[in-house]
Amino acid sequence: MARYELVKRSVALITLTNPPVNALSSPVRHAIAKSMERALSDPKVTAVVICGENGRFCGGADIREFAGPLRGPPLIPVLDAIEAGRKPVVAAIEGVALGGGFELALVCHYRIAHSKARLGLPEVTLGILPAAGGSQRLPRLIGIPAALELITTGRHISAQEALKLGIVDQVTDQNACEMAVEFALKSVGKPLSSRRVSMLTTPCPPDLDALLEAATMQVKKKARGVMAPLACIQAVRAAATMPFSKGMKRESELMTTLFNSGQAQAFQYCFFAQRTAGKWTLPSGAQWNNSKPREIRSAAVIGLGTMGRGIVVSLARVGISVIAVESEKKLLENGRQMVIGMLERDAKRRGVSASLNLLNFTLSLQDLKDVDLVIEAVFEDMALKKRVFQELSKVCRPTTLLCTNTSGLDVDALAGVTNRPHLVAGMHFFSPAHVMKLLEVVCGPRSSSETIATAMSLGKKMGKVSVAVGNCPGFVGNRMLKPYLDQATFLLEEGATPEQIDKALEDFGFAMGVFRMSDLAGLDVGWRVRKESGLTGPDVDSKNPPRRRQGHRYCPIPDMVCEQGRFGQKTGRGWYMYDKPGDTNAKPDPLIQNLLETYRSRYGIQPRNISDQEIIERCLFVLANEGFRILEDGMAARPEDIDVIYLFGYAFPRHRGGPMFYVSMVGLERVLERLEYYHQAHPDVPHLEPSALLKKLVACGSPPVQKWREYIKTMHSHL
Ligand code: CAA
Ligand code: NAI
Repeated sequence: MARYELVKRSVALITLTNPPVNALSSPVRHAIAKSMERALSDPKVTAVVICGENGRFCGGADIREFAGPLRGPPLIPVLDAIEAGRKPVVAAIEGVALGGGFELALVCHYRIAHSKARLGLPEVTLGILPAAGGSQRLPRLIGIPAALELITTGRHISAQEALKLGIVDQVTDQNACEMAVEFALKSVGKPLSSRRVSMLTTPCPPDLDALLEAATMQVKKKARGVMAPLACIQAVRAAATMPFSKGMKRESELMTTLFNSGQAQAFQYCFFAQRTAGKWTLPSGAQWNNSKPREIRSAAVIGLGTMGRGIVVSLARVGISVIAVESEKKLLENGRQMVIGMLERDAKRRGVSASLNLLNFTLSLQDLKDVDLVIEAVFEDMALKKRVFQELSKVCRPTTLLCTNTSGLDVDALAGVTNRPHLVAGMHFFSPAHVMKLLEVVCGPRSSSETIATAMSLGKKMGKVSVAVGNCPGFVGNRMLKPYLDQATFLLEEGATPEQIDKALEDFGFAMGVFRMSDLAGLDVGWRVRKESGLTGPDVDSKNPPRRRQGHRYCPIPDMVCEQGRFGQKTGRGWYMYDKPGDTNAKPDPLIQNLLETYRSRYGIQPRNISDQEIIERCLFVLANEGFRILEDGMAARPEDIDVIYLFGYAFPRHRGGPMFYVSMVGLERVLERLEYYHQAHPDVPHLEPSALLKKLVACGSPPVQKWREYIKTMHSHL
């Protein structure tokens, strides 16, 4: 857990050995404490260097230990002993120094970092704060404004930035450990008191209150309802206004509150869920660790519309050469300009040069003979997509992977028109594709393990969080979205307003409520889909009883809004009104109020007062209920995958952990009871009927979300 060696005759080299990130587990803390005691008591030792094995200093506390009671020595006394020691201690930072790892470096008297190292206090992203003295030492070392920013955002910084801020003493391109040993030898005999960060006085700006107030406003706006950043600000205030020992006490009080909160559990669940999601499995037994992805050097993207452009950028910026295809010269030229502009802006932001030389533009599929992989992003029209896939099948070499970005069409139907169904899969990006982190990799029944491995690995290369999903209408994310959107519009019929529903969802933690979000995305997209699927249109409307379609309750209000040319922000009118098209400031529109009142009186609906609780329950319980059905159907392998899809694709608030984690925290029994209640009240809404899996889990005593998989195993997996 920590190796102890004597090097250069007088330097004790302590190497943390806890792969993969040298986390500070109980045995590691114990080993550090013992090694330090040995180094401090051995007269041969004049200085100490602490480093981490395999080029990684330390990834912080062992997060897996947070779920159980504290075992082994607590971290703070171990760190205090290092700082108080009378022999110089140098941290040799390679790879990462994060969280407790950074705090370990802060108690060392000197810090040498490799130029590629990254440092940070990401505790806030786990719903806690740097509570091994980090919130008290960092402000003393670099001042309030810089410390406040790093602690409240959890941002990782480069070694160069750490040097500029005064966090590290030296940055090297060479072996940081060897440099640290040399440095340690030179430090012997030099006074250490000024090197003990806890002894420093925090440089306190005159406008401290204003500064902290501004930070509070900012985090409240950015992370609605999240406790951790606010607690971080209070801890930093303590560093500015209290002596170190009292500040540590305050840090500990704040940590106790956060550590025991549901929010911290949610954040930590998200951390592991994100990592679990990459571990896909197919019913054949093929999985992430036994299937080899192909290397993709060249790709083609067909269709340079909203999605295609972002996909081209995502590929080109990770060094993949791309041939982009459009159907007409003008559209091709327009697409080219857009892609180049996006790539240039992206490169400028990242401080690199734009990889324009990787781009080629064409009107002919014939030019795709030699590419390794194709991503089709033409209109959502099955007949068109089939034509494209047939042609690709003829043109591309037999080993080329053919992927579709369809938002919900049958991937296997597309595979069926090719001469290589095993090489076909869905790669469902989210809009804007170069920004959004989520990628659903849709596994058709005939997709080979190599195809899935390649799509997953390509997603990772592009910086996406890739989740393998089954092939069903809407896949996972969009399939769940439909009942959620339906509930929001049913609530409008029953008496709520868009503002009220949005506010309830925003108070829950969403950055934007469902109606504001729909205005941003454009209301015409869904309208077109509803028309194509026979849910609305003059013919359909006149043939069906009002407010019913395909045997179930249907709310035509969204169609009525679109019929008025209100397509959202882009037209300056939607569920809200905007000062001008493209404006983002949503204001309640009396015309919508009017439309709702007229609608209700036409259908004899007596509006009622709807509580925020009902809004949350109906919208979010129905969302999770569909998630349970997806698990039953085997279209997602585990609840964590569904949560990751909602966190990264639909901005579900992270401090709630995702829809499935959220309902597990509410209590499955309560969720079941409320769904039964709402289903009784609205028997014509099948989505409100509790799913078999939810009932089964409740009958089995509502196990925690991490255990649900054991109850799903027997169901029919497509993954
Ligand atoms: N504790 C436990 N496990 C950890 C861990 C940690 N701090 N950091 C990473 N891991 C695990 C991951 O879960 C993953 O496990 P599996 O292989 O079983 O999935 C494995 O280590 C590798 O992790 P990544 O896939 O994330 O590897 P990466 O190379 O992409 O990234 C990393 C490495 C940047 C260190 C990243 O893992 C990371 O950000 N880790 C968390 C860092 C962090 O938040 N530290 C603060 C902890 S809280 C704290 O420190 C407070 C305190 O002292 C009181
Ligand atoms: P879009 O309408 O913006 O772009 C489609 C582009 O394809 C157009 O530029 C069109 O000229 C081009 N095109 C049509 N036929 C072509 C052909 N035969 N050859 C070459 N180019 C052709 O559509 P958008 O929004 O980009 O959607 C594309 C696909 O991505 C659809 O399947 C859609 O369902 C899916 N999708 C859309 C999302 C969105 O938010 N817009 C999100 C995720 C997936």
